[in-house]
Amino acid sequence: MKFADKYKANYFLPPEDRYDWVKRDRITAPPVWCSVDLRDGNQALVTPMELDEKVEFFKYLVKIGFKQIEVGFPAASETEYAFMRKLIDGGLIPDDVTVQVLTQCREHIISKTLKALDGVKHAIVHFYNSTSKPQREQVFKLSQEKIVDIAVDAAKMIVSAGGGFAYEYSPESFTGTEPEFAVEICNAVADVIKPTPSNKLIINLPVTVETSLPHVYACQVEYVKKHLKRADSIIISTHPHNDRGTGVADAELALLAGAERVEGTLFGNGERTGNVDIITLALNMYSHGVDPLLDLSDLNETIAVYQKLTGMKVPPRSPYAGSLVFTAFSGSHQDAIAKGTKYRAEHSDAKWDMPYLPIDPSDIGRNYDGDVIRINSQSGKGGIAYVLEQKYGFVIPKAMREDIGYKVKNVSDRKHKELKPDEVAEIFKKEYIDVNSPLSLTSFSFDKSEEEVLLSLRINNNGKDTIIIGNGNGQFNAAVSALKRAHGVDFTTVLYSEHALETGSKSNAAAYVGLKHGDSTVYAVGVDPDIMTASIKALVGAVNKLLKA
Ligand code: KIV
Ligand code: ZN
Repeated sequence: MKFADKYKANYFLPPEDRYDWVKRDRITAPPVWCSVDLRDGNQALVTPMELDEKVEFFKYLVKIGFKQIEVGFPAASETEYAFMRKLIDGGLIPDDVTVQVLTQCREHIISKTLKALDGVKHAIVHFYNSTSKPQREQVFKLSQEKIVDIAVDAAKMIVSAGGGFAYEYSPESFTGTEPEFAVEICNAVADVIKPTPSNKLIINLPVTVETSLPHVYACQVEYVKKHLKRADSIIISTHPHNDRGTGVADAELALLAGAERVEGTLFGNGERTGNVDIITLALNMYSHGVDPLLDLSDLNETIAVYQKLTGMKVPPRSPYAGSLVFTAFSGSHQDAIAKGTKYRAEHSDAKWDMPYLPIDPSDIGRNYDGDVIRINSQSGKGGIAYVLEQKYGFVIPKAMREDIGYKVKNVSDRKHKELKPDEVAEIFKKEYIDVNSPLSLTSFSFDKSEEEVLLSLRINNNGKDTIIIGNGNGQFNAAVSALKRAHGVDFTTVLYSEHALETGSKSNAAAYVGLKHGDSTVYAVGVDPDIMTASIKALVGAVNKLLKA
């Protein structure tokens, strides 16, 4: 790309040298959320929603806890108007939900908007005009005074119509507006509305287009808040878009800077790169121990509703919601998560501090089973052991994890694809359990004297039934001696462990045996309802591997 010398940084840093927001490191209370899915989100869709779809979306927003919902621009189209009427006439607006409508500062648009609200219980009339320098100079070709007149005239019109509504004013394209002028126009509007502490005016400071680093916006928000005349009667609202990909940061820093309300959309749908993503904001708060007061406990349902009604897709890396965001493929991450999970099982009262998982996926309805640890050629022994334990109950001893890790990873590498848990289990079975040739155990019996055990093994050796005998201080050692003697193999037992299989078939036990001969160590696993049979099966399997080697 050739650098074009035609850009400059287009933003206004307010003339203030001390900001309080920089001293704050967390958001301590949830803002008032206002969903603009049905207006800003909808107007940006390739195919805007139809009336029934808007109704369904509205009901879902209510279901998950939104108390303020911008439902549209009733004067903009018949569908928008009809939707507003349907909500009111159909009694679909719960008493504790306030609907919001958007209008430009133009007389006929304002009157149609107010008409659409006839009979509504609680509504916010949101009026806006563009205040930025480029809009004033290039689009409207109007002075600052004239731009103030537009907002003030609209405020007068709206107030004189009465109706008992709440009001919101947006100096649209706020971030491209000189901060002093933004203060001037907001104060002028407030002088008309005359808000009180019990009937506050919402001043919405939109990042209509993101042009600066997020902290510049935070400074702009704090500056306006500090210089508004009726601070105790005003709610500062933030409405970031995401042109630089920092909409979430804009909103969070605006909250630090004194905003108390956020306008945004589910999963960040909206004009161009979208509005700020309320799901991310809410779950960011949640991860800091602040209840966002939105119910996101079934995020899969939220995604499904959103995707069905908007036709948009939630990308796999979308924070919290993406299909891959709780998944660890990398070996070291898997290992840490597996250990963290174990630690948590032993410290269930501890606050969440899990490596690589900012929140507990199960809190938002995501499944650990097959979701968190997935296996590909980048995975490690810890992750593979985790899958075998969580899903199939095999507690793989540390000593043999590397061996299994290589076998599973090699398959994934060769096939060049992810392995599902069933495929991992299949490899495990083939490589460690089904090692039945040349020898396989048919049965065994033993005699126990005070000093030792005399064991007789019935072994199928390449289709031939044989009996071999061994002795030792226990059954397992007696089986070792029988196999060494009968098959001329020499080895040291470097691993022996067993446990009851908790998942799958409840009555089975699993035994793990590792045998070392020279430089090589081989491993096998036996599964049987009887623990000693499982152990001898594992031993025979490992001897088979030595014999083959
Ligand atoms: O992004 C924006 O500035 C808007 C206004 C209408 C608030 O959507
Ligand atoms: Zn917007």
